[in-house]
Amino acid sequence: MIGLKNPDLDMQLYPPSHYDDAANGYTLIQTVPLASAMGAEIRGVDIANITDEQFVQVRDALFRYKMIYFRDQHLEIEHQEALTLRFGEFGTDAYTKGMPGHPHVQCLVKEASTVVDRVFGDGWHTDSPFLARPPSISLLYGKDIPPYGGDTWWCNTVLAYEFLSPRMKSLLEGLKVHMSAKLAIQRTVRKDNQGKPIVGEMKLSMDEEKMITGNFHPLVRTHPDTGFKSLFVDQIYSQGIEGLTEEEARPLLDFLGRHVTSEEFCCRLRWTPGTLTIWDNRQTVHKAYNDYDGYRREMFRTIVNGEVPV
Ligand code: SIN
Repeated sequence: MIGLKNPDLDMQLYPPSHYDDAANGYTLIQTVPLASAMGAEIRGVDIANITDEQFVQVRDALFRYKMIYFRDQHLEIEHQEALTLRFGEFGTDAYTKGMPGHPHVQCLVKEASTVVDRVFGDGWHTDSPFLARPPSISLLYGKDIPPYGGDTWWCNTVLAYEFLSPRMKSLLEGLKVHMSAKLAIQRTVRKDNQGKPIVGEMKLSMDEEKMITGNFHPLVRTHPDTGFKSLFVDQIYSQGIEGLTEEEARPLLDFLGRHVTSEEFCCRLRWTPGTLTIWDNRQTVHKAYNDYDGYRREMFRTIVNGEVPV
C-alpha cells in the first residue's frame, strides 16, 4: 500500500497523490476523500440513472476507498435494489424479513418517541459475519435524518492489518475466528409483549440458534478483487478462535478489536437526507450512534451476498 511509513500510527497514512482521479482512471466520476484512512464522496453520479461505464468506476472507487457516499440522491426503493444487484445477488438478511413487497430491503427506523439503550448496528462490527457467506457489500440510504447525531463511523481493516508487526501477522496467519451473534443478541435485542424479538420498535425475525452457532472464518482474509489482506475481526461478533481456549483467545480478540478501531484508521459520516453510502464489509468495520433521541431516523439497507471468506 502506498504511503505507509512506520507502525507507530503517528504519521501520514497516504500521500495526497493517491487520490488523483486521473491517475486512478476516474473519468466519469469525481472522488472527494473524507479522511486519509478511508472514505470518499463520489460526485457526478445520479444513482437512479447510473450508466454501466460509471458503475465500473464506482465499484473500483468502493474497493479503493472502502466506503463511498453520494449526496442528494432521490432514490425509490427500486433504484436501490437495482444498484445493489449490479454488485451481485442479494444477501439474506439474518435479522429481518425485509419490507412488504421488498424482501431484500431492510427499513432501519428509530422513531422520535423511541428511547432505547441500543440501536440496530451499534458497537463496532462487520455485517453478519456469523453467516457462512457474510455480506460483501452493504448499501444504506438516508431517508429521514435527524438534524444532528446518528452519524456512522467506519474503520479500514486493511490498514489495520498493514500496521501490525511482521511477528503478529505471522502469528495470526491461519487462525480462524468464531463469528457468533451471541453478544449482539444479548446486548441489543429485546422482547415485545408477545415475546417477539425487537430492537426499539423494529420487529426482528431471526433464527437465534443458528446465528449464535455462527461460523469460523479466517481471521486474516484476502479480498477477492484487490488481493489485499485485512483483519476479519470486530468487537461484537468475534467470540473465539479455533483451537484456543477462551482465556487464550479473549486477550488477542480484545487487542485486535481495539486495534482495528484505532482512530487513525477511521472516518465519520454526517448524514443528510438523500445520502447513499456503500461499504465493503471485507475491508471495514462500522458502528451506528444512538445519540438522537427526540428525532426520527429512517434508513433503507440492502446487502450483497458475499463469498466464503478465504
Ligand atoms: C448498520 O450497521 O448496518 C447500520 C448503520 C447505521 O444505521 O448507521
